[in-house]
Amino acid sequence: MNLWELNTVNAAYFVSGSGSNFLNLETYFRNNLNRVVGKIVIANRSQIGAREKAEQLGIPFIVLKENDFSSQEKYETELLDCLTKNEIDLICLAGYLKKVPVNVIDKFQNRIVNIHPALLPAFGGHGMFGIHVHEAVINHGCKVTGATTHFVTANYDEGQIILQDVVRISESDTPESLQKKVLDIEHRIFPETIKLLTTKPWITDGRVFKSIEAIKETK
Ligand code: GRF
Repeated sequence: MNLWELNTVNAAYFVSGSGSNFLNLETYFRNNLNRVVGKIVIANRSQIGAREKAEQLGIPFIVLKENDFSSQEKYETELLDCLTKNEIDLICLAGYLKKVPVNVIDKFQNRIVNIHPALLPAFGGHGMFGIHVHEAVINHGCKVTGATTHFVTANYDEGQIILQDVVRISESDTPESLQKKVLDIEHRIFPETIKLLTTKPWITDGRVFKSIEAIKETK
């Protein structure tokens, strides 16, 4: 069934860091989008800010690291089992720095959403995470930057773009000041994206994400 047709959308969060996007999403779901329910937080590290936030919110937090398993296959089986047991419909990569295994991507096609702190397709791909993105944007002399939500495919930051928003860069901006401005955009467009995906019909047409309503309006 499509995401917008489900009565309840069970969400998993994948995290690697402070978890501000996770906290922001979960707060939004509880206050404004009750049909999306955060079921589990899956991390690839144990000592991260997201852990405390999950505990405060009463959402199970589990750590799944490839290195803790004797093979990649066993790690992937455990990850898939965990998603199946929790009846997960949607995965939100909320500051997750690891690649999602291909068999998870195949099983959750167009159901894994990432937030990237730049305007894709610029400043994406391998090594483009955290403060490095904002350093690269400033060093390139860009005049605007922003954030992008997109579906997750086998290659970093290459899936269909769902939403983007921009912010101007001033000459006095530093990578840190830019990171803060972009994080504000992330905290706005990630919830908007999940609302869009779970409440209104949409399609992907090759590289392009289209909301059905938008298509009808242009006809
Ligand atoms: C955010 O900038 C996000 O775009 C990126 O990692 C950062 C994580 O922030 N993927 P948080 O852990 O959600 O606070």
